[in-house]
Amino acid sequence: MSNQFPVSRPRRLRSSDAIRSLFQEVEFNLGDLVLPIFVEEEVSEYTAIAAMPGVRRIPESKLAYEIERYARAGIKSVMTFGVSHHLDHVGSDTWNENGLVARMTRICKDTVPEMVVMSDTCFCEYTSHGHCGVLHDHGVDNDATLRNLGKQAVIAAQAGADFIAPSAAMDGQVQAIRRALDEAGFIDTSIMAYSTKFASSLYGPFREAGGSVLKGNRRSYQMNPMNRREAIRESLLDEQEGADALMVKPAGAYLDIIRDIREASRLPLAAYQVSGEYAMIKFAAAAGAIDERQVVRESLGAIKRAGADIILSYFAMDIAEQGL
Ligand code: PBG
Ligand code: ZN
Repeated sequence: MSNQFPVSRPRRLRSSDAIRSLFQEVEFNLGDLVLPIFVEEEVSEYTAIAAMPGVRRIPESKLAYEIERYARAGIKSVMTFGVSHHLDHVGSDTWNENGLVARMTRICKDTVPEMVVMSDTCFCEYTSHGHCGVLHDHGVDNDATLRNLGKQAVIAAQAGADFIAPSAAMDGQVQAIRRALDEAGFIDTSIMAYSTKFASSLYGPFREAGGSVLKGNRRSYQMNPMNRREAIRESLLDEQEGADALMVKPAGAYLDIIRDIREASRLPLAAYQVSGEYAMIKFAAAAGAIDERQVVRESLGAIKRAGADIILSYFAMDIAEQGL
């Protein structure tokens, strides 16, 4: 009884800025954020992405300039996505040692060696059909795709990528990549697995950003958003396969899953605040409905509170430049 009102008054710990700050439970800083970037080959101009106000595709020729700018602003890490003009049935440009995946990585690492480069490892931006792997009659061929993921991972590692980040949602992809990297001598290259990746409609704006040619959907390989047990199982499988870090994607609508995986694994956990989450905040703010900076802070804080160590966010550069 004595722990109840009027003895207990939680408002005491909210009575000034200093007290509130002293008792704040979670915080995040720039060092926790990864900036996803889109790099387009064979063009000379930036392309604005209508569905993601403030985000532009970077022409490859301006990538070095951009990386320097990010580093100066305090960005510690980028996730690279290529916008390819060399599509084929399997996405073979990704394992060409002078292909876009290799070149993007090399430019980043040559320009700012201490920038942590995560190479998104998939095929959907390099295939003529837009699927995340080798397409056969009945859909995406899991095991044929694994061989190609291994080849792409080695090419990215050779070019200097610090992290291979497989997002194809194929079974066994972490194991296949770990083996390929180790066989090629890249024992120190890490794997940040998109270990729980939902088939989410919140990826909509990304498809415009990446110039996706996909017709159809990815529901035969990405997860059903309604499934919680399976979400935990997927991440634990990647842990067993040798992932160095796990990820939940999207983030904001899946805070329960972030918490579940945080409690089920001891690996570091990332969460990806995806294009649709970014767009919802940007457009609501542009309409005057919400305060952008405060909602960004609140949404990223909530992702941390749920249990994420690292957050991938298109707001990372805004935060670097404007603070929180
Ligand atoms: C593709 C990929 C997607 C995203 C990252 N990698 C889209 C998809 O799976 O359809 C989405 C990122 C975002 O929406 O911000 N493997
Ligand atoms: Zn893909």
